[in-house]
Amino acid sequence: MHEAIKKISQELLLALLNNPYESLILIDAEGIVRFVSEFNTTISKRVILDAVGRHISEVNPGSELLRTIQTGRAEIGRPLVLDDQERIIARIPLTNDGRIVGAVGKLLLSSPQKVKALYQRIENLETQLEYYKSEFEQLWGARYNFDHIVGRTQVLRDAIASARKASLNDSPVILYGESGTGKEMFAHAIHEASRRRGKNFIRINCAAIPTDLIEAELFGYEPGAFTGARRQGGAGKIELAHNGTLFLDEIAEMPLRMQVKLLRVLQDKVVERIGGGKPRQINFRIISATNQDLEGMIRKGTFRLDLFYRLNVVTISLPALRIIADDIPLLFETMLVELANKQRVPLKKVEEEALEALKAYAWPGNVRELRNVAEQVMFAADGEQVEVGDLPPKVRSGIAPMALAGSNNRLLKQSVESAERQAIEQALRQAGQNKAKASKLLGIHRTGLYQKMRRYGML
Ligand SMILES: Nc1ncnc2c1ncn2[C@@H]1O[C@H](COP(=O)(O)OP(=O)(O)O)[C@@H](O)[C@H]1O
Ligand SMILES: [Mg+2]
Repeated sequence: MHEAIKKISQELLLALLNNPYESLILIDAEGIVRFVSEFNTTISKRVILDAVGRHISEVNPGSELLRTIQTGRAEIGRPLVLDDQERIIARIPLTNDGRIVGAVGKLLLSSPQKVKALYQRIENLETQLEYYKSEFEQLWGARYNFDHIVGRTQVLRDAIASARKASLNDSPVILYGESGTGKEMFAHAIHEASRRRGKNFIRINCAAIPTDLIEAELFGYEPGAFTGARRQGGAGKIELAHNGTLFLDEIAEMPLRMQVKLLRVLQDKVVERIGGGKPRQINFRIISATNQDLEGMIRKGTFRLDLFYRLNVVTISLPALRIIADDIPLLFETMLVELANKQRVPLKKVEEEALEALKAYAWPGNVRELRNVAEQVMFAADGEQVEVGDLPPKVRSGIAPMALAGSNNRLLKQSVESAERQAIEQALRQAGQNKAKASKLLGIHRTGLYQKMRRYGML
């Protein structure tokens, strides 16, 4: 044994063993109780007093500490129920020169409430982390202008024309369209073509901000406004959009309480940070986006009519990809060129039959889903051409179910993924695109849903 340990005074050792923050029970190699700390709450009060010197199985018939002596294996973080209360404990073997000389039972957490509270905190942190991750991607992610928007169909050309017109003035714009139809891309393009280009384009994803962050995110806060507030305070997103564009993505997800506050900001163009401070005059252009029927929400009382009037000045509807199916070949080939350049691999030509299959598929995830398929195909296609067989089963199945025969591992993986995607899409539809609700329907945690959606390019 280490020399220094031998020199610890008896008094100090006792104080360590008996400190009121720990519950310990110590047995020797024979299972005889040698010590129980005074404050021990893992065995009943009445047995603590005369436990020492008796066999553990007598003192506490259900004790599993003997197993620790037998196996020599530590068990950390196990539940223990005593007097109808669950606790989290550890059983640790004690050794000297590799020989087991005893074992100690130790209380780690005194109540499941504490465990739950801890779990809750982790869960909150996870949601916040997810949020900041997407914020980060947003900041470093692609910026678009009108040159990036691909498509020759009339409906799309009309949408582009309206957006170009809108970029010449400062009116609020609202972009309607299913997920993945290019709403964010259009918002960027309008900003880049407007006189506000070069100034900030600030996006608020109303669906992704954790509710306990939303107010601070929007309005900012003064020093000491709440616990955890940084000492110097912080600007909110609205303030950051000064002289630039504020993009309110998934506006329908904004809680009613925040709708009221936002309306006030839109009326007065003034923000006050949380915790007081001087009102700041902010000049910004507002663009919002949604895939929801806001008028229906207004009738149900979940969206404010007065806010709607403020946002719904210039309306631009983006077509679902299945509506502009004629643009699919052009879009798909443009994406392949982009991907080939980015990954420095030779460009592949797309076989006519494959293009037909792409045009026939329904594309519930729209252009985003198409991009996702383009990426998959880049990896899947072995030859110089992209053939029908290289497309994911969901795309092929509509046109040639026979191609599914002779399945292999890649096919299995793709089928699982496509089933998962479909389940997510359906749950989102059922939940009115509310991700918290959808994750409940799917029986997974919200964070998990976000991960999957990101993986499948649905965010
Ligand atoms: N007309 C288009 N031309 C080129 N890329 C597009 C077009 N529409 C959408 N995309 C691409 O599809 C993806 C999803 O677009 P996004 O603007 O995020 O959609 P939304 O905000 O409507 O969900 C992005 O990668 C975007 O670049
Ligand atoms: Mg979007």
